[in-house]
Parts: sequence; C-alpha cells; structure tokens
Amino acid sequence: MKDYRSFLKEILIPEDVLQKRIAELGAEISRDYADKNLMLVCILRGGVMFLTDLMRKISVPHAIEFMAVSSYGVGNRESSGATRITLDLITEIYDKDVLLVEDIIDSGHTLASVIEMLNTRKPRSLYVCTLLDKVERREVAVPIRYSGFVIPNKFVFGYGLDIDDFYRNLPFIAVVDLEKYKADP
Ligand code: IMP
Ligand code: MG
Repeated sequence: MKDYRSFLKEILIPEDVLQKRIAELGAEISRDYADKNLMLVCILRGGVMFLTDLMRKISVPHAIEFMAVSSYGVGNRESSGATRITLDLITEIYDKDVLLVEDIIDSGHTLASVIEMLNTRKPRSLYVCTLLDKVERREVAVPIRYSGFVIPNKFVFGYGLDIDDFYRNLPFIAVVDLEKYKADP
C-alpha cells in the first residue's frame, strides 16, 4: 500500500482539534447520562477509534458493545441503501440507554436501518453520537443527538475511516486526492 502522503490533499481536522471536541462531547454525554443505564454501541470498524477516545472522556459508568453492518464494499464509495447486520451485539439492549457511536453519517441509510433494527429490541432510549456529519449528502433523515463536526462533501480518511480498508490508524481526519490515490506509484 502507498504512503498516505502521496495522495493526501489536506488535513481537514488535526489531532488536537479532534481531541478537544471529543472531550466536549464526553462531558456533555456525562451530564446527560448521569442517572441512566448507558451502553455505548460502536459500529465497526470505522467507529472504533472514536469510541475508545470518547469513553475515556465519559465519567459516568457505562458498558460498551459492538456491531457491524454492511454498507458498501471495497472500491464502491456509495452506500447502497441495503443494510444488514454482519456482526450482532452480544448483550441484550432491552431497557438500556443506548448511544450509537458512529464515525460518519453520509447518506444516512446505514444508520437509519440500524436504528430501525435496534428499536425492535425495545431499548429504554436510543440516540446517536457521530464524529462527522456530511450533512449535504443526507438522503434519509437521521436523528443526531451529538455531532462532532459538520464536514463538506469530500471523501475523508484517518481516525477510523478507511480507504479500501487501510489508513484507519492516522490520528487526524484527512481529505484524499482520488486522482493521486488511483494513479500508479
Ligand atoms: P451512509 O449509509 O451513506 O450514511 O454511510 C455511512 C458509512 O459510509 C460510514 O459509516 C462510513 O463507513 C462510510 N463513509 C461515508 N463517507 C465516508 C468517507 O468520506 N470516508 C470513509 N468512509 C465513509
Ligand atoms: Mg462506518
């Protein structure tokens, strides 16, 4: 795989800005869930870095859970609209205060289906915390309670977000230059 610097267009959100905002979100969540039965549900794999940083900023007791859904495969950058659970939660969410932790909401199809599927299990409450919101791209309404950053309609990577499954480890959010990414070395 190529060094990300060869197709990096710009760093959209540097590490310090991300961490500062995540601390604010954690404080807000800690206030809102003081007397609740909080369970953070991370949607794999993109949400994992956000979850692990966010939970360190949440001061109230909480459980964590993971699930994975299929949105789109390698090479296809549009979400299909058809979503299925590829890895389900291990624990019950009945009567829990569930907070979905997502990396990015784009068309909204993925999260809208996840919300519909989880609501059938009767959680006490179900809300969404997303790090990034590509609001211009929304096709289906998704209720978002906590949002880190509204970003323009550009394909981003880093901090959990991938390009063809790589580069999730970078500590910042960057914009890809797709021409350079596709070009041979
Ligand atoms: P949606 O169903 O269109 O809202 O797609 C949401 C999913 O698409 C996210 O959970 C991401 O996995 C992926 N996605 C959307 N935009 C980007 C992007 O700019 N970079 C990387 N992944 C993205
Ligand atoms: Mg994702």
